[in-house]
Amino acid sequence: MSVEPALRRKTIALVGLMGAGKSSVGRRLAQALNLPFRDTDEEVERAAGRSVNDIFAELGEQAFRAGERRVIARLLEDPPHVLATGGGAFMSDETRALIKDKAISVWLKADVEVLARRVGRKNDRPLLRGRNPVTTLRELAEVRYPIYAQADITVDSIDTSHAAMVQAIIEALRARLVPEGTAS
Ligand code: S3P
Repeated sequence: MSVEPALRRKTIALVGLMGAGKSSVGRRLAQALNLPFRDTDEEVERAAGRSVNDIFAELGEQAFRAGERRVIARLLEDPPHVLATGGGAFMSDETRALIKDKAISVWLKADVEVLARRVGRKNDRPLLRGRNPVTTLRELAEVRYPIYAQADITVDSIDTSHAAMVQAIIEALRARLVPEGTAS
């Protein structure tokens, strides 16, 4: 598939709750657009030399959030790429403003039940540990969805293939970034 240069001019920052597909779909979106892929959780883990779980347990959430803000500010200075942000990253006023300025943001919006099913079996998310995922995700959605809604683009993350999600994101980017009549 050929993609218009307009789609590759800015970093594409994926935002949304845990399980929305920011990393799994983001990786494939990057491939489709022939852009590098970055994941803020992975970069924070690399910088801290330990897992997100261990950062929360040993240093606390505030330390994780500070690391997340630093890492995203650094990544946004890099050439255009697809950036999967951690679910809480866009809640920071500072990070949100930077993303607004330097990237195009895409909210992968999903129903809590879909998210809960997807995150259900994994044990790598400190905010869900030992808690009912549906209840916790519902609480987070209530607080976060109005903020995620400030993203430039919203794409529904439904139970479909990754390829179909990538296609839906590309279409939404195209509608926003490619002036009418210039699509190849
Ligand atoms: C978090 C989401 C996680 C990770 C951390 C906190 C959140 O990332 O950053 O566990 O606050 O929603 P994913 O959204 O990639 O799971």
